[in-house]
Amino acid sequence: MARKIRVGLVGVTGYTGMELARILVNHPGMELVRATSRSEAGQQLQVLYPFLRGTALGGLTLTEPDPADLAAACELCFLAVPHKAAMETADALLAAGLKVVDLSADFRLRDKAVYEAWYQTPHTRAALLDEAVYGLIELYAQDVRRARLVANPGCYPTASILGLAPALAAGLVETSGIVIDAKSGASGAGRKPSVSTLFCEIQDTFRAYGLPTHRHTPEIEQEASVLAKTGITVSFNTHILPIDRGILATIYTQLKPGVTPEAVRAAYEDFCKDKPWVRLFPAGTLPETRWVRGTMYCDLGLVVDPRTDRLIILSAIDNLCRGASGQAVANANLMLGLPVDTGLDLAPMMP
Ligand SMILES: NC(=O)c1ccc[n+]([C@@H]2O[C@H](COP(=O)([O-])OP(=O)(O)OC[C@H]3O[C@@H](n4cnc5c(N)ncnc54)[C@H](OP(=O)(O)O)[C@@H]3O)[C@@H](O)[C@H]2O)c1
Repeated sequence: MARKIRVGLVGVTGYTGMELARILVNHPGMELVRATSRSEAGQQLQVLYPFLRGTALGGLTLTEPDPADLAAACELCFLAVPHKAAMETADALLAAGLKVVDLSADFRLRDKAVYEAWYQTPHTRAALLDEAVYGLIELYAQDVRRARLVANPGCYPTASILGLAPALAAGLVETSGIVIDAKSGASGAGRKPSVSTLFCEIQDTFRAYGLPTHRHTPEIEQEASVLAKTGITVSFNTHILPIDRGILATIYTQLKPGVTPEAVRAAYEDFCKDKPWVRLFPAGTLPETRWVRGTMYCDLGLVVDPRTDRLIILSAIDNLCRGASGQAVANANLMLGLPVDTGLDLAPMMP
C-alpha cells in the first residue's frame, strides 16, 4: 500500500483508545499521527502503554484534544470519548473537512427525543443525526462507504443485533416477548475509576446492574425494528462478569407456529455465508467469550427448545475489539476506500 492515511484518536487513555492503538500500530493503510488526552498530554504513548515500546507508535507524544490541531494533521478521527463529549468535537472536525468515527452513543439514535430521554442530556448537534450512518458492518457497509460521520455501534447492541438479525429478517420469531440476558467483562464500564468496578467488588461474585433501563436498550430496539419491519420492544438485562473483556448475550425468542429447527439453521447459515466475522457454531456447540477475545468475530450458537418452542440465541463478542475499536477501524477502512478487513486479521488472544 502506498501512502498511509493520517488519522487521529481522541481519548487514547481509555480502554477503547488503548485497543485502537493496539490495532493501529500494525495497520498497513493508516498512520496514527495524533493521540489525545487531557490528563496525560505531553506523555509518550510507550510510557502510558509499555506494550507499544519499540513499535512505530511508542514515541508518539500525546496532545490536548484541540480540534484545530487535529484538523490540520489528520484526514479522519476516531472519537473514543464518553457520550456528550463527542458531539461538538465531531461537528468541528466535520466542518474542517475530516471524516469521523464516533465510538460514543451521540449519533447512534435516529431520534433526538429518544437520545435525550435515555441519556438525560440535550443533543446539541441534532442536525447531524440524519447523516450519521450506524456502523454495524454486516448491515450497513454500503452506507458506511459514503459516510462522513459513522456512529460506531455499542458493544451490547453489536452482540444482540447480530444474534437477532437472521431470525427477525426472515420472520421466524415473534416480535414481542424478546428477552436479552447479557453479561459483560468489566472493561465495558471504561477506565475511569469507580467503586463498582474495583477488583474486590467484581471478583468472585456475579451481579446484575442497570435493570431495566440500560441505555443500550433503545439502540437495540431501533435496529431490531428495522430488521423486523415493525416496532420492537425488548427486555434487555445486563450483568457484570469477573473478567476483563468479553460479552455473552443469551437471547430468548418465541418461534412462530410451524417454524422448524432446520428452517432456523438454514436462515442463520444464509445470513452468515458472506459475513466472515459472524461465525455460526455447529449444532450442539456454544460460543464462549474466550474464543473471540481480541478479535472481530461475533460467534453465534442456536438452541431450539421443543418443550417451549423457544429459539435461544447465544452471541459472543469481545466488547473492546468487535464491540468498539475493531469495528471502528472496519468502518474507517470503508470510509477511506480500503478493504473492510485491512489491519483486522486478529487471532484470538489465548488463553
Ligand atoms: N468500554 C467498552 O467496552 C466500550 C464499547 C463500546 C463503546 N464504548 C464507548 O466508547 C467511548 C469510550 O469508552 P472507554 O470505555 O474507552 O472510556 P474510558 O475508558 O472512560 O476513556 C474515555 C477517554 O476519553 C477521554 N475524555 C473523557 N472526557 C473527555 C472530554 N470531555 N474531551 C476529550 N476527551 C475526553 C479520556 O481521557 P482524558 O480524561 O485524559 O482526556 C479517556 O481517554 C464511550 O463513549 C463508550 O460508551 C465503550
